[in-house]
Amino acid sequence: MKKVKEIKNNELFYNGYSLKELAKTYGTPLKITFLDLIKDHIVSLKDSFSKAIKELNYPAKFIYLNANKANYGALEVIEAFKHADGLETSSYYDLLFTHELFRRFPEYKNKYIVCNGYKLNDYVDEIIKIHNEGIKIIDIIDSVSEYELLKKSNLPVEVGMRIHIEALYAEKEEEIKNDRFGLTNSEVDYILNDIKNTNLVLSTIHFHQRGFDYEEDKFQENFEKVFNKYYVKAARLFPSVNNFNMGGGTPLPVDEGFDYDKWAKYVLGLIINLCDKAKVTYPNLFSENGKYSQKDATCNVYKVVGIKNTDKYPWNIVDGSLLIAMPEMYALGEPIEVRPVNDLDKEMVKSYLAGITCDCDDVYFEKDKGYINLPKSDELYIGLMGTGSYQNSMNGKGGVHHCLLPEEIDLVINDGKVAIRSKLQSIEDIFKLMKL
Ligand SMILES: Cc1ncc(COP(=O)(O)O)c(C=O)c1O
Repeated sequence: MKKVKEIKNNELFYNGYSLKELAKTYGTPLKITFLDLIKDHIVSLKDSFSKAIKELNYPAKFIYLNANKANYGALEVIEAFKHADGLETSSYYDLLFTHELFRRFPEYKNKYIVCNGYKLNDYVDEIIKIHNEGIKIIDIIDSVSEYELLKKSNLPVEVGMRIHIEALYAEKEEEIKNDRFGLTNSEVDYILNDIKNTNLVLSTIHFHQRGFDYEEDKFQENFEKVFNKYYVKAARLFPSVNNFNMGGGTPLPVDEGFDYDKWAKYVLGLIINLCDKAKVTYPNLFSENGKYSQKDATCNVYKVVGIKNTDKYPWNIVDGSLLIAMPEMYALGEPIEVRPVNDLDKEMVKSYLAGITCDCDDVYFEKDKGYINLPKSDELYIGLMGTGSYQNSMNGKGGVHHCLLPEEIDLVINDGKVAIRSKLQSIEDIFKLMKL
């Protein structure tokens, strides 16, 4: 994988572009999405698995799905759609959007749709409609009520079962109570027993372990537990069971030398071992990539527009809101790298960063240090690296924001072409949203 972040001429370059130059040319606050990074990530992981499949003589496929929920920018999802093997949806509305993409891009009609999430009538009806159009759609059953709705259709809809795994490794009690998804052991047994009396076709065992920072031993333990307990059981009962879906959580960050070739071999090696021991057929391996597909493709750039000296270190005030730009970091502790962009050869000063909202929490410093080192500069820009996944849905992109601050200028770069997707949000736009 190519190096995305580079220092050249004492400036930070992202995907080959000087962030300072982009900021000076297009203005700040600025959000920049590099569509080719979405492609690079997808192609590269698929390539790692293709090589592993070849090397290990693995007799089934690796299926890469884009987890749409990570970023609902149409361009981002369409880019992922082009290169992935399919799209993963999380709600009825997400499925309506995905269905529309399948209509608009008939050249990708043979790709998969895999449906997760809690499902009511509307979602199930749309799945049936899409199944009837001949699109490869797999409904991952999340509850018994959904199963009952689906079986009433009397159609051979392809289904999977999402396994509810206890959060074995959660450190905090509240995390254990957090994961409501999937079917319990007895619900799985009920469906395994009942489904033979229906026309539904069981093909997939699915699990998704909530975004921990990837740790191999934890990944392996959950993977093996779900595989042994559920895939093996289901595959012995039904020859149609031939997919194992490991959800999201693919290791990140991509830029820091993680060896995806080795990881692909390791994951397939786990499956080979488990299948050989249990004497069941080797499944296709599905992976639903949200963060891995989208996170690194976007960064934000702000200008330092003022300094306040009320505390131990100088507060550098930027022309936007850090809180709005990276809500996932503030709410859930998701790591997002914050770095000065230019004048990196100048004397470094221990500093704090703050957004220009009135919110006390709109501040940033490195937690372990209690400050961030910033260069002494008359024209300083600050970059937030990796805002491409989940920030837009959490900060209500397109809406009215904290202190009525306008949304960033939104740039999209692809194949060397820079396009302004939207200008800085105007006060008239904001008034309209406020129904003023
Ligand atoms: C079922 C499922 N699959 C995939 C994902 C994507 O996970 P990630 O963003 O870690 O790739 C999620 C995220 O919530 C999910 O719930």
